[in-house]
Amino acid sequence: MAKAWSPSSWHAFHAQQQPQWPDQADLDRALKQIASYPPLVFAGEARSLQAGLAQVAAGNAFLLQAGDCAESFEEFSAVNIREKLRVILQMSVVLTYSLGVPVVKVGRIAGQFAKPRSSAVEMVGERELPSFRGHIVNGDAPTEAARVPSPDRLVQAYNQSAATLNLLRAFTKGGFADLGRVHAWTQEFVSSSPEGQRYEQIADEIDRALRFMRACGVDTERNHQLHETDVYTSHEALLLGYEEALTRQDSLTGAWYDCSAHMLWVGDRTRQLDSAHVEFLRGVGNPLGCKIGPGTTPEYVLDLCERLNPARIPGRLTLISRMGYEHVEDALRPLLRAVREANQPVVWACDPMHGNTTTSATGRKTRDFASLTSEIDGFVRAHKAEGTWPGGIHVELTGDNVTECTGGADKILDSQLDDRYQTVCDPRLNARQSLDLAFHVAENLRGTGLA
Ligand code: PEP
Ligand code: CO
Repeated sequence: MAKAWSPSSWHAFHAQQQPQWPDQADLDRALKQIASYPPLVFAGEARSLQAGLAQVAAGNAFLLQAGDCAESFEEFSAVNIREKLRVILQMSVVLTYSLGVPVVKVGRIAGQFAKPRSSAVEMVGERELPSFRGHIVNGDAPTEAARVPSPDRLVQAYNQSAATLNLLRAFTKGGFADLGRVHAWTQEFVSSSPEGQRYEQIADEIDRALRFMRACGVDTERNHQLHETDVYTSHEALLLGYEEALTRQDSLTGAWYDCSAHMLWVGDRTRQLDSAHVEFLRGVGNPLGCKIGPGTTPEYVLDLCERLNPARIPGRLTLISRMGYEHVEDALRPLLRAVREANQPVVWACDPMHGNTTTSATGRKTRDFASLTSEIDGFVRAHKAEGTWPGGIHVELTGDNVTECTGGADKILDSQLDDRYQTVCDPRLNARQSLDLAFHVAENLRGTGLA
C-alpha cells in the first residue's frame, strides 16, 4: 500500500542527481521565492494535453516531443525560440499530412534546464572539474568558480521559462502558427535543400486544400483550428526542490499539479521504483513520461505503470524508449507485449538520441543520423510485430544551422563538427536534419501500413 503523498513526501526517499548547493539557507530562500511566484502553466492545460495523449495511446494521434537537450541562459532570445518553434511546426505539418492523424506537439522547452550526469566530475582538457549540471544549477565555463551551484539560477530559470512560455503562447495563438502561413516556416538555409523543397510541395497542397475548402463555402477565416495551435511544454523533473516549489493545488478539482510545465518526465538515471523522483511524480496530476533504456524488464515496466498510473488513465503515462539502434527491436518487444497484455493505456515514444551517442575522432559528442533513423525503424518494427501503436518520437533539435549530429541529407562529416558546434549539452539535429527525420518517420509508418 503506498503511503500518503504530499508535494514534499519525496524528502523521505533517496534523491539522486541533486546538486551540492553550498549554502542551504540560500537554497531555501530561492525556493521560497519561487513558491510565492505564479504558476507557469495551468492544470486545465495539463488535462488538455492528457486528453491529446489519450488519443495517442489509442492509436488515433502521434506525439512529437522535441527541443533542446538543455536550454541555455546565454542562447535566450525571441529569434532562438521562434526558430525552434518553426522546426517543430514544420515537422508536425509533414507528420500530420502524411499520417493523416493529429500531431500532439510538446516542446522540451520553457524549463528544460537541469541535466543528470553520469559522474560528479568531468575532464575538461587536462583539468578535472565538477560536472556542468545545466544553467539552472551552475555555469558551463571550464573553471572551478563557474561550476559552483548557485540558487539564484533557480530563480533565473523560472524567469526564463515564464518569458519563453509567454512568447510561445503569442506565436501559437497570435498568427505565427496559422496554417495559411505554412510557407513562412521554412528558413532560408533550408528552403533550397531537397528536404526544404519536399516540404514546399506539402505546403502547396495545404494551400490548395484551404482554397478548396473556401470554394466549397467553408468559412476558413472563423475556424480557429486553422489559425492557432497548441504547443505544450515539458522537461525532466530532476531538481525536486524546484518542482515542489511550483506544485500547486488545482482550485477546480483539488488535485495537485506541478505547474512548472504541462508534462514532466523522469530520466533513465532516476527512475527506480523507490526513488524520490518516482515518489514525487506519482502524486501530481500532469501527464508523465519515463525514459527506459536497455536492460529494462517487463516486470519493472508493469510496476512502474502501477506506481505512476494506478487508475490506468489513458494518456497519463508515456514510456519513452531509448535503447540504442542495435538493441531496440529485441529489447522493446517483450515490454510492448507485457504492457499490452496488462491493458495499460500508455503512449509509446521513441527517443532515438540518447542510446546512440558516440564520440568523434576530434573528441566531440555526436550522433549519426543513420543510427537515429535505424532506431526509429526498429521501434516501428517492434510495434508492428506486437500489434501496438508506435505513438511518437522524442528528439533533441534546434532551429539553428548547427553541426552537432553527423550525416543526414547534407552529409555532415566528423571533420565538420567543429564548424558550428553550439550545444551546451548533447548534440542536436539542425533544422534540415529535423525535417529529414520527420519525412523518414512519415514514410516508414506509411510503408509498414501502420498509418
Ligand atoms: C535527456 O533526455 O536529455 C536525458 C538525459 O535522457 P536520459 O534520461 O534518457 O538519459
Ligand atoms: Co540529452
